[in-house]
Amino acid sequence: MPRLTKPLVLVGPMGVGKTTIGKKLAKALDLEFLDTDAMIVARHGAIAEIFANLGEAKFREFEVEAVSQALEKVAVIATGGGAPISETNRTVLGQKAVVCYLSTDGRHMSSRLSGGGRPLITDGLDSWRKIYAERKHSYESIANFEVDTSNKPLAVIVQEIKIQLGINE
Ligand code: S3P
Repeated sequence: MPRLTKPLVLVGPMGVGKTTIGKKLAKALDLEFLDTDAMIVARHGAIAEIFANLGEAKFREFEVEAVSQALEKVAVIATGGGAPISETNRTVLGQKAVVCYLSTDGRHMSSRLSGGGRPLITDGLDSWRKIYAERKHSYESIANFEVDTSNKPLAVIVQEIKIQLGINE
C-alpha cells in the first residue's frame, strides 16, 4: 500500500464526524490516530471547563500547541472545528499536512450535537449553523480536498478519502 508522507488532517464543523472518520481511516491506512481535542483534554482537563475557567482564547492557545505537536507525526489527525480560525494553525497546516475538509449539508446534525460538551453550541442547531457559515471559508481555504459527508455511510466516506489520497485499495 502506498504510504502517506505527510500527516493527514481532518478539518470541518463540529459534529461532522472527524473523530469517527479519522479513527476508521487510520486503521485502514495502518497509521496512528491523533485527536487534538483529546490531547488538550489529557493535558488541561475537560473542554467545557477550560472555556468556563480560562476562556476561549486560552483554549485556542492550547489548540495551537496541540496541532503543532500532532503534526510531528505522519498520522491521521482529527482537529476541533475551530482549529482553522487560527492563522498560525492555517499556516502550519499548509506547510506540513494534507488537509481534508469534511463538509455537510447539516441535515442530520441536531442528534449529533445533543451529547453536549461543546461550549459554543449554546442554541442548538442555530448556533451550529451560524458558526459553520462563519468558518466555511477557512475550511475551504486550507483544504487540499473536500469530501461531502452528507447522508453517506462511514465506509463510503473513508473510501472517498482514500481515493483522493491516491490510495485506492
Ligand atoms: C470547537 C469544536 C470542538 C472543540 C471545542 C470548540 C469549535 O471540537 O474543539 O468545543 O470551536 O468548533 P469538535 O469539532 O470535535 O466538536
